Amino acid sequence: MAGVTDRPFRQLCKRLGAGYAVSEMVTSRPDLLKSLKTSRRANHDGEPGPIAVQIAGTEPQMMADAARYNIDRGAQIIDINMGCPAKKVCNKWAGSALMQDAALALNIVDAVVAASAPYGVPVTLKMRTGWCQSHKNAVPLALAAESAGVQMVAVHGRTREQGYRGEAEYDTIAAVKAALKIPVVANGDITSPEKALAVLKATQADAVMIGRAAQGRPWIFREINHFLSTGTHLASPLVCEAKRWLVEHLHDHYSLYGEFTGVRSARKHIGWYLRDAPGAEPFMDVLNTLENCELQVLAVENFMDELNQTMDRMPSLQASAEVAAELVETMV
Ligand SMILES: Cc1cc2nc3c(=O)[nH]c(=O)nc-3n(C[C@H](O)[C@H](O)[C@H](O)COP(=O)(O)O)c2cc1C
Repeated sequence: MAGVTDRPFRQLCKRLGAGYAVSEMVTSRPDLLKSLKTSRRANHDGEPGPIAVQIAGTEPQMMADAARYNIDRGAQIIDINMGCPAKKVCNKWAGSALMQDAALALNIVDAVVAASAPYGVPVTLKMRTGWCQSHKNAVPLALAAESAGVQMVAVHGRTREQGYRGEAEYDTIAAVKAALKIPVVANGDITSPEKALAVLKATQADAVMIGRAAQGRPWIFREINHFLSTGTHLASPLVCEAKRWLVEHLHDHYSLYGEFTGVRSARKHIGWYLRDAPGAEPFMDVLNTLENCELQVLAVENFMDELNQTMDRMPSLQASAEVAAELVETMV
C-alpha cells in the first residue's frame, strides 16, 4: 500500500508473521526514478527476502526498464500493478485502468516478463475483479497473463468502479482460482482470523493478502497464522510488547525518512496503532504538535506506559464465536 507498506513496516510485518510483503508501487517513469520518494521506495536495506517490488505504468518499454532498474536494486520478484484505482498513476490512467485495455495490459506483461526472465526473476500481477460491475474480466485477463508467464496473481474483490466502496466479493476470486494453475491470492476486507479462514474456504485461494487491517496491527499476521494452523486464538499482544514494536518501528521509520519527514509521516502509523485505545484522541492532538523524533518517541512511550496501567493487552481482533460461525457459513 502506497504510503503505508514502506520498508520499515514490511520488515515488522514479516517479523510478526507475514509470509510475504510487496513494496509500495514504484513508478516506471524514468524522470521520477531518481526522486527521493522513488529511491526510498526502492530501498530494501536489511529486508528479508523475497523482495517483491510493485511497478506501475502504462508503457510496456518503460515498465520493462523499471523491472530491470528494480532488479538491479535487489528486487527478487516484480509485481505489476493493475489494481490501483487512483487517477494519474504515472501521469496517465494506469493501475486498474489497464483492466479496460486487455491488449495493452498483455503487452506490458510480455515486456516485463521478457525483461525479468534473464535474471530468473518471477513476475506477478495484482488486479481487481474488473473495470465495473458489467465488465468483470478478471478471469480472461488472469488466464492470458498466466499464458504470458505471470507466476502468481493477487485479486482484490472489487471493481475499479467501486474504488474502496461497498464490500469485496469473493465469487470472482474463486472463479480466477478455478481457472488458473498458478497460485492465486485473495484480497479485500479481510480483517480477522475468522474472515481469513472464510475467504480461503470460499475461494480455495492459495493465500490471503491483508491490507488496511494490518495498519497499526502488524501482529494480525501471526494471529491469522495461529488461527489457521490451530483453530484457536492467539491472545492479542501485551501492551508492553506492542510498545516495543511501535518504538522499534518509529526508529526504523526515522532512519529511512530522516527527522523532518519521518516525524510527520510517523503520525499516521501511531494513530493506527492507538486507534482503539482509550484516550488516544486527545493524545494524538498533542502528538501532532511535536516536531522532533526524541519528543515523539517519549510521548508514545509515556502513553503506552499509562495504557499498560489500565489494560494488559491490546484490543483483540477476533470476532465473537457467533459472528465467526455465521461468517464461515455464509461464505462457503
Ligand atoms: C492507502 C492505500 C494504498 C494502496 N496502495 C496500493 C498500491 O500501491 N498497490 C496496490 O496494488 N494496491 C494498493 N492498495 C490496495 C490494497 O493493496 C488492497 O488491494 C486493498 O486495500 C484491499 O485490501 P484490504 O481490504 O485488505 O485493505 C492500497 C490501498 C490503500 C488503502
